[in-house]
Amino acid sequence: MADWIEVAKVDAIGPRGLEVQLGEEPVLLVRKGSEVFALHGICSHQDMELAGGYAEGPAWVCPHHGAKFDLKSGEAAGMPAVEGIPVYPVRVEGGVVFLREPA
Ligand code: FES
Repeated sequence: MADWIEVAKVDAIGPRGLEVQLGEEPVLLVRKGSEVFALHGICSHQDMELAGGYAEGPAWVCPHHGAKFDLKSGEAAGMPAVEGIPVYPVRVEGGVVFLREPA
């Protein structure tokens, strides 16, 4: 199983999310209260960055055309996206976010 990789401090995640890299992949970190979610950083609609959007209920809203993705599952939750995006396991320890590749 892949190791956990330190990617950011929790405090660095603002309301518009924070894009980090996991290997070659851009990953969007989203903070809601004490929970941190990690989604693939690129929207499935037109391959644009999801960072800069905002959380709305259980979903992240793409800043470009308003597609929504479930924060926990990555499933498409609003048009114009019809395909979901990968999500990543998250561990938070001492105010630091760790990610690893999905199993
Ligand atoms: S690129 Fe995300 S909704 Fe179009």
